[in-house]
Amino acid sequence: MDIDFLNKLIENLIEIEERNPVAPVLSPEEIYQKVDLDLHEDGIDDEALQSLLTQVFEYTPKTATSLFFNQLFGGRHSKAVIGDMMACMLNNSMYTYKVGGPMVLIEKKILEEVQRRINYPSHALGTFAPGGSMTNFMALLMARDNFNTRIPHTGDTSKMILYTSETSHYSIPKNAALAGVGRDGVRFVETDEEGRMRPDVLEAMIKEDVANGYHPFLVNATAGTTVLGAFDDLNAIADITDKYPGIWLHVDGAYCGSVLWSKKYRHLIDGCERSDSFSVNAHKMLGTPLSCSMIVSKHPEALYRSFSNEASYLYQTDDDNLNPGKISLQCGRRNDALKFFTLWKSIGSKGLEAMVDHQFHLANYASKYIKSNPNYELYSFDDTIGICFNYKGVSPEEVCLRLYQGNKLVVGHGSHKGKTFVRLVSVNSNNTEKDIDKFFEIFENFVESEMLNPVA
Ligand SMILES: Cc1ncc(COP(=O)(O)O)c(C=O)c1O
Repeated sequence: MDIDFLNKLIENLIEIEERNPVAPVLSPEEIYQKVDLDLHEDGIDDEALQSLLTQVFEYTPKTATSLFFNQLFGGRHSKAVIGDMMACMLNNSMYTYKVGGPMVLIEKKILEEVQRRINYPSHALGTFAPGGSMTNFMALLMARDNFNTRIPHTGDTSKMILYTSETSHYSIPKNAALAGVGRDGVRFVETDEEGRMRPDVLEAMIKEDVANGYHPFLVNATAGTTVLGAFDDLNAIADITDKYPGIWLHVDGAYCGSVLWSKKYRHLIDGCERSDSFSVNAHKMLGTPLSCSMIVSKHPEALYRSFSNEASYLYQTDDDNLNPGKISLQCGRRNDALKFFTLWKSIGSKGLEAMVDHQFHLANYASKYIKSNPNYELYSFDDTIGICFNYKGVSPEEVCLRLYQGNKLVVGHGSHKGKTFVRLVSVNSNNTEKDIDKFFEIFENFVESEMLNPVA
């Protein structure tokens, strides 16, 4: 193993990040011109490979630094990175105990602890999938096949309808298309001012669909919507789905389901134990490298019904309980559990809790600053880690683009109820209040000097 080679590369990357926390933005043409990305008949020596990779790192967007606020992940925790690297070194596939060994048990331990935190019954079961879109897909498939257990054989999904809020993640309609339900089978439920699904509207829609001969089979509730970070009222939604035994309730907690680890914010998902399935991404609020997505369900039979298939060339030892391939969307599957395990073991549940609480703390800190400054307009509400604002009437699209092109800050924009705004995501738990101050300092200086009062 080229340990020195690896160490040097890591050192180079860290040096680059410190020197240039926001990578220079080059067009694809410029990158092709500067870096030899062509693949040749002959290989190159280590020195050349090292310098080529270092050159590529220079231009690669930096998501681990304190100036990345663009998406719902950020930062870097060394123990989690080490866990991920070791997963590569070991290169197990997580379908059988024969090939995964203790890694299968690590995965099970994590999922059991997630289930316990939700307050699911002890027979609940879960798995990892490559991302929150895929865990939502799994929930949709389980709900579909639970509604009519013949569907995995017949594929007949006619008149099946699912409900999700208008502010929910785009994977829901996409998955409906993939699952044969179709995009037309998705009802987007209106949200209130704070971006939460309106239960009264949901119930009215379900009643109307039933009266018209449609088959409601799934309600997708969101714990942390992608833009506003809103939490749907799970108890109010479960009060409705409880009246319709054929409807599966899934909680998409990809973004903020990690409040499971926080005593202070756990109340935001009160009622989650009433759901049929729940998904959460450790690669968002819990600082684990991409991707680390889990789904658990209180109906183990639903996981088997939708995802199990016999394969005598694969399942040759142990029972289903130790062969997680039987409840997986995939065949070969990366070990996404080890990185979360190494992080969790090293900082404990208390450390994960502190991480979640710190993100809310920094978001509150940012929101307090915005409220205290009349040049800002705040669009977000309490208990969110996505702070949405505008400054001095400047176009949010333009300022985000120009900050990115000028290598100043990486931040994006979002919209809700016809208003577009800058969205500062507080999801890097390595950040401090000083980093938030720095964000506003860079932002304001840039707007003043480059947009409002440019020097001719
Ligand atoms: C609410 C919500 N659900 C699902 C997803 C998809 O997660 P992933 O990016 O892991 O596929 C996201 C991503 O931002 C999200 O915000």
